[in-house]
Amino acid sequence: MLIRGDGAAMSLYQEVGGSEFFESLVDHFYAGVENDPRIRGLYPEDLTDSRANTALFLIQYWGGPTTYSDQRGHPRLRMRHAPFVIGQAERDAWMEHMHAAIAHMEPSVEVFKALVDYFEMAATHMINAPA
Ligand code: HEM
Repeated sequence: MLIRGDGAAMSLYQEVGGSEFFESLVDHFYAGVENDPRIRGLYPEDLTDSRANTALFLIQYWGGPTTYSDQRGHPRLRMRHAPFVIGQAERDAWMEHMHAAIAHMEPSVEVFKALVDYFEMAATHMINAPA
């Protein structure tokens, strides 16, 4: 929740104007992944579903509609990542693209910090292999 100047609480989803922000963020992120040999091979050839699932997850996580769980059940992200070998290097490459995608969106300082803090923490949590 972010607190507006008038004291009202708002979800980050509302703050950024809804689903479009996350769809665009995810498009920029996957455009980076698509051209990165360090992690491209972990993903399926066709990134259509990856894009859609990631955007829906983030929309839900940040306070928007719960379409992700309606379609795919509980996120259990660490378990869903178990099939992929994610070490520090893969985590850092992933984060590089997400950081660039967030910067590209030019959000407020408050939103920028909330997103970067969350992704830094969550990406580290996804590590499941030694460096
Ligand atoms: C902030 C951390 C992360 C979040 C929030 C996140 C989110 C997601 C989501 C929502 C999915 C789709 C799950 C599904 O519904 O099937 C996914 C899939 C995937 N993620 Fe992540 N992820 C994170 C970190 C990482 C990292 C560090 C890597 C390593 C490179 C990675 C690699 C993958 C791969 C290979 C897939 C499978 C693609 C697919 O199913 O199409 N993720 N991720």
